[in-house]
This record gives sequence, C-alpha cells and structure tokens, in this order.
Amino acid sequence: MNKYTLVPMNENHIPELANLEKICFSQPWSEKSLREELDNRTAHFIVAEFNGVVVGYIGVFVVYESCDISNIAVLPEYRRRGIGRLLLEGACDAARNGGAESISLEVRPSNRGAIALYRSVGFEEVGLRKNFYRNPTEDGLILSKKLISKENGEENEDFINRKFM
Ligand SMILES: CC(C)(COP(=O)(O)OP(=O)(O)OC[C@H]1O[C@@H](n2cnc3c(N)ncnc32)[C@H](O)[C@@H]1OP(=O)(O)O)[C@@H](O)C(=O)NCCC(=O)NCCS
Repeated sequence: MNKYTLVPMNENHIPELANLEKICFSQPWSEKSLREELDNRTAHFIVAEFNGVVVGYIGVFVVYESCDISNIAVLPEYRRRGIGRLLLEGACDAARNGGAESISLEVRPSNRGAIALYRSVGFEEVGLRKNFYRNPTEDGLILSKKLISKENGEENEDFINRKFM
C-alpha cells in the first residue's frame, strides 16, 4: 500500500533534500547547510517519504516560546495531495512539544499557493519585512499562528513516524 510517512531528517536524506531545494528555490540550501542542522538542538527538520522516497520536507527552529519555519518544499509532481499541510501539522506538533506558543514564517507575497496553504491551517498575516528576499528582491510577508497546548484543550497528535494515506 502506498503511504506517506513523516520522519526526522537524517544523513541519508541530505542529497535528496539538497536536490529538492534546487528544484524549488532560487537560493537553495546546500548539502552542507542542511547537514549542519542535524546537530542543532533547536532545529527540527521533518521529511515526508512516499514508499521510502523523499517527496517533501519542512524545517523549523524552536527557541523557547517561539518557533520559525525556515523551509517547506514538496516535489512538483507530488503537490496538491496534502503533503504540505501534513508537514505543517508535523511542524506545529514539534513546536508544541518543544514548548513553543506560536509558530511563524516569511513568504513572498507573490507565492499565492503557499499563502493559501498557510491560511488553510490557521496562519494570519502579522507584518512585512521590507526587501527580505533576493533573486528576485521581494518583501517578506510574516505569517503567524498561535499554538494551543494540550492542557488548553487541543488534541496533541504525534505526527512523526505515523503513516498517512
Ligand atoms: C507550497 C507547497 C509546499 C505546498 O505543498 P502541497 O503539498 O502542494 O500543499 P497541499 O497539497 O498540502 O495543499 C493544501 C492546500 O493549500 C492550498 N494550496 C496549496 N498549493 C496551492 C496552489 N498552488 N494554489 C492554490 N492553493 C494552493 C490549497 O487550499 C490546498 O488544498 P486543496 O489542494 O484541497 O485545494 C508547494 O507548492 C511547494 O513546494 N512550493 C515550492 C516551494 C515553496 O514555495 N515553499 C514555500 C516557501 S515560503
């Protein structure tokens, strides 16, 4: 049966993730930059696999009560199947488990698809960073979402290592 699995990033994922970065971004993360996050205790990088093949990933940094999403990407041929949403849910789960109270990210205002995804899971616009992006230069829209802790009523699901259809 074909299933998606979210797993923590490991050394074996690095070449495929660097390739995914090249496909998706004008300023891609290198293998070296990705590898450095393996030893970073504030970094939680989560990989979506489909039958053992890397199809997407998300990177988040949890520092005390705040959490920033640094990267999210899905292979073009696997988009619009819910993997991006699944990765975001996994990231929110990791952030909550790390003690974060909110989760934020920057996005190009021209990236309508990504903005639609973020809004669909409850992110709201909270600010703008002028000329945040290069190649091409563009402002960075800041989106944020409050994370409700388990004690306050929201069910705290564990997304990592579970299989999803
Ligand atoms: C943004 C990205 C991660 C979305 O991944 P995905 O797996 O296709 O997203 P999902 O299938 O989970 O989408 C969930 C919902 O988000 C919205 N959405 C996602 N992509 C969309 C698009 N291109 N246009 C409009 N809405 C979109 C839709 O509401 C979608 O639900 P639906 O398919 O039932 O209509 C993917 O397009 C990508 O890798 N883009 C290139 C890298 C990038 O821009 N990253 C973001 C940097 S800030």
